[in-house]
Amino acid sequence: MDKKRNATIWTVIALLITLALGYLMVVNIGLPGGRPLTTLSPRGGKSQEIQNLIIPVFIIAGIVFVIVEVGLVWLSRRFRQTEEDVEGIGEPEQVHGNTRLEIGWTLVPALLLAVLAVFNVQTILGMDDAENPIEITVIGQQWWWEYRYDLDDNGTVDIITANEAAIPIGRDIAFKIQSNDVIHSFWIPALAGKMDAVPGRTHERVMDASEVGLFQGQCTEFCGLSHGVMRMQVKALEVADYDAWVERMTRVPDQPDASDTLAVEGQALFVTQCSTCHQVNGLDPNSTAPYTYSETPDPEYGKSVNITMASGNAPNLTHFMMRDYFVGGLLPLYEGMPEGDGRLEDLSEVQAIPSGTPDENNIKRWLRNPEDIKPMNPNNNQGMPNYNLSEQQIEQLTAYLLTLK
Ligand code: CUA
Repeated sequence: MDKKRNATIWTVIALLITLALGYLMVVNIGLPGGRPLTTLSPRGGKSQEIQNLIIPVFIIAGIVFVIVEVGLVWLSRRFRQTEEDVEGIGEPEQVHGNTRLEIGWTLVPALLLAVLAVFNVQTILGMDDAENPIEITVIGQQWWWEYRYDLDDNGTVDIITANEAAIPIGRDIAFKIQSNDVIHSFWIPALAGKMDAVPGRTHERVMDASEVGLFQGQCTEFCGLSHGVMRMQVKALEVADYDAWVERMTRVPDQPDASDTLAVEGQALFVTQCSTCHQVNGLDPNSTAPYTYSETPDPEYGKSVNITMASGNAPNLTHFMMRDYFVGGLLPLYEGMPEGDGRLEDLSEVQAIPSGTPDENNIKRWLRNPEDIKPMNPNNNQGMPNYNLSEQQIEQLTAYLLTLK
């Protein structure tokens, strides 16, 4: 009797500790602002479908866990050997080879898993369903993401941007995921599951956003030095705001105002120093080479200017200040934005055309020494080299970049 009571007390204690630890582990998950990369706070149809599968599976797994744990602790206390027990006496009844039990504990888990498998496969197959989707090509590179929009589906790319893709809410988006160098993995946990970006292949991942927001993502396939800080964002906008974004992104940006001397000097410097890798559409054609002039984004820009990058590509900076983040989605371009692993809690802050105060300091830090910000290997053509720009040149380039909106 004593043994039984002891076993029960021990079981209750073990169960309470386990539940308390489990609660502490999950309490913060899913809260906006709690964990920006949580999969348990869906903001779109596809991620909601995954959530609808996860919850019942976790409940069933939780019940199984509790039953097994309770049984384990209770049995090990109830039937443990005590000092009074001598060889063979006090030993519990042996059930080894009991056919009924063997069939029982084989059949029950097998049936359970079979039932879960049906819903699992159903959900997975549904992930590819898309109704009249907007197609956006995503290209993984060391260590940033490029997005290409062919808006009228005529084979010509209309928008090329980096790290931050804008989408309209309530519309299916088919991301066509590719890679320019090694294997990466595209993942916006609030909107959908992961999809690998594999060189030479195109993988599709469909997602839709049910509400406005700036949703953070992270590359989830090890891809070299800066894999851990290879971030990306999807900016989900009201349809009218998305249209405004598209209108702005397809426009050739104005030349810097002649009175803005710093910016004008910065543009000249950009042409000689930066345009070897970075395109700005419609850059003043009277400036000198080496860039190739184009009014529209040139998907082959990197190759046509013969850059030495391993990926043969660098971000198109035409509408640089239209993004909320730069440096592979890592650093905010505007003051007051959370770092690239933070989540915007006030969704009303999300704007089609950012209007905050630019974080010039972040831009200058990057220009001063890119390798200070994130690990790269420019000697091996991976990432941006340090051009040892003077403070004056950094001021000029920053002034020019700020005009790119
Ligand atoms: Cu790209 Cu990891």
